[in-house]
Amino acid sequence: MTEHLKMDKVQPRLLDETGQGAITKPTPRPEGPQKVAGTAKYAGEYKAENMAQGYLVRAGITKGTFTVDENSIKDMPGFLGLYTDHMIRNSAQGTANTNPVQPGHQVQYLGQPIAVVVAETFEQARHIAHAVKVDYQPDDDTAPDFATATEFELKEKKSFSQGDLEQAMSEAAFAVDSTFTTAPHNSAAMEPHAALASWEGDKVTVRGSLQMLKFNQNELADSLGIPPENVRLLSPYVGGGFGSKLGIDAACVSAAVASRHLGRPVRVEMHRNNVFEAIVLRTPSRQRVRLAADSDGNLLGVGHENWQSTLPDEVFSEPIDTATHFLYGGDSRTYATHVARLNRPASGSVRAPGEAIGMLALENAMDELAEATGIDPIDLRIRNIPAVHPESGFQYSSRSLAECLTEGAKRFGWSDRKAPKARREGEWFVGMGVASAARTNILMESKARVTLNPDGTALVQTDMTDIGTGTYSILAMIAAEMLGMPTENVTVALGDTDFPHASGSGGSWGAASSGSAVFLGAKAIRQKLAERLGCSIEELRLQDGVATGGNVRRPISELLDGPIAEEGHIEPGKQEVAQASFGAHFAEVAVSAVTGEVRVRRMLSTVAAGRILNEQTAQSQVWGGQIWGVGTALTEEIQHDPRTGHVVNNDLAEYHVPVNLDLGDQDVLFIEERDDYANPIQAKGIGELGISGAGAAITNAIYNACGVRIRDYPATPDRIFPHL
Ligand code: MOS
Repeated sequence: MTEHLKMDKVQPRLLDETGQGAITKPTPRPEGPQKVAGTAKYAGEYKAENMAQGYLVRAGITKGTFTVDENSIKDMPGFLGLYTDHMIRNSAQGTANTNPVQPGHQVQYLGQPIAVVVAETFEQARHIAHAVKVDYQPDDDTAPDFATATEFELKEKKSFSQGDLEQAMSEAAFAVDSTFTTAPHNSAAMEPHAALASWEGDKVTVRGSLQMLKFNQNELADSLGIPPENVRLLSPYVGGGFGSKLGIDAACVSAAVASRHLGRPVRVEMHRNNVFEAIVLRTPSRQRVRLAADSDGNLLGVGHENWQSTLPDEVFSEPIDTATHFLYGGDSRTYATHVARLNRPASGSVRAPGEAIGMLALENAMDELAEATGIDPIDLRIRNIPAVHPESGFQYSSRSLAECLTEGAKRFGWSDRKAPKARREGEWFVGMGVASAARTNILMESKARVTLNPDGTALVQTDMTDIGTGTYSILAMIAAEMLGMPTENVTVALGDTDFPHASGSGGSWGAASSGSAVFLGAKAIRQKLAERLGCSIEELRLQDGVATGGNVRRPISELLDGPIAEEGHIEPGKQEVAQASFGAHFAEVAVSAVTGEVRVRRMLSTVAAGRILNEQTAQSQVWGGQIWGVGTALTEEIQHDPRTGHVVNNDLAEYHVPVNLDLGDQDVLFIEERDDYANPIQAKGIGELGISGAGAAITNAIYNACGVRIRDYPATPDRIFPHL
């Protein structure tokens, strides 16, 4: 039986009625010990009998065509094969559901995977891949670097205007018109992409490192030209994703192709350099933000235009203005997205695509407006929270933004904040900054099978993934809460396309979407238990293995003559509400007057994301967001050689991801909330909320500390020191 719900209307808050207490208890990840011990295996750690090893050949030119001279390597030790068919240009975009561009023998960026070499060992394959003679026919008509690009196409569908912003700007008592730039970012997941493929007849099984299996299954099938039912994907553990593993990658496709040719299992592990080139990066951006306000600081108009880049034929563009549409009021509104087609690695989703960089610009501009109006940055934000969505006119499903700002200000000690440059400790200027946080909330179709066993245990099965976010713990907690058992009695099996298809991990929708499917499956089991106990579903109470209802009380096991298995199926419905998670970030920084170095002493994020399913994993998500905030604000920047597009800092030694010592105290405060419109568990997304706005709190704190306004990210010392 399937319990199906299309989320067309508000649902009762059943999880506030169940009495197990599993959900309210902060719970560590059950797979944590296995991860630490190395027994939770990642794709590249699996071996198969008679396995051969593949290694990608990367293009050595920026644009042109190529032919490979197989004779140059075929006598090398261990050589088994070299294949160029079906190669994908870059990883698929999130939820693409079809094959990425397969350019044949065309090269469109330096480092594009053009072939896979297969040998008996990894070392042999790598050696041969470096030795193979490739004849290139370069096309010198390459596109310029982003910084000098002049040809942009306007994305009509992502451009929008209401009212008259020009007029609002000219009539405004206070106006801000600032242009910001942000650097390209890499997702920099710890686990590089890898795949192990093997065929049985016309069916292929691939162990990959992927975030969204039901989409990835179709993407791989389409890339290979076979039906999706002939593809099985396994991704039970994923060592970080952040968008990089949303779509099918060159490891999966080339391993499957090579394995089909050779008739042997083939494993392809992507080198870190491959990950920096052949996996989507975050676009560089230029953003113009305009704010027009009356003499009381009330917004009359908002403008947010952006310029970004990607490869030809990519549909994705980063939705940079997402939060600007719904965060603050103002009748006149203008947005535009412009895309340049450049010979650089493809742009795609990296942690909170849109808000992550769009909110840097918006929240910096709000800080500039606060400065101009003389209104406290927190007061300015609160007075501009609109009653209804300023464009659609919809109500907000839930929105605790004002509480996040005021409660956060109290906890952080905001009242101690001084004027710019007014606080000095030896060589250090010290200051505080704030930024709002917002991330759109989305429900995605999701299915899960829940089985209740007579021995008092339960099993959850879904092709949902856990990319380090806590899926294993959250799904176990929801099942435990619904079925009246301790969380540790629930086993969760994930990451196998043979299981019911889930939303996948991405867009911050994973926990709430896949959790709703588990909730619905368990709800169907509760219905059966009520019937067997002889009470109504309203009366039924399940706690610690005991069912009570009416005047009856019996162990749940006595109600079972075998396992009960039910499937839950959630689908988004039509609802006319605006829906997002909200929060506020606070940062205190010290800026060296001698070197321009910035140290982030402490951060607080107040967060309202509907029902918090697991305070422990939710807190970890927000901690991660704060660290991303430090990265975007201070350190992370892909450097392309402007002549060739070569990713110069294509490893984790030179692409600077913050480490523990780059951030002092990290504090997270949850604001109690339920979102009745979101889904039947009243939870909203939290994964990417933590990064959204975080970097702006840091750069606003830099301004408050030393009076230097950062408009070009990241705020490296050379961008601060000359202005001190
Ligand atoms: Mo996220 S960038 O949707 O994994």
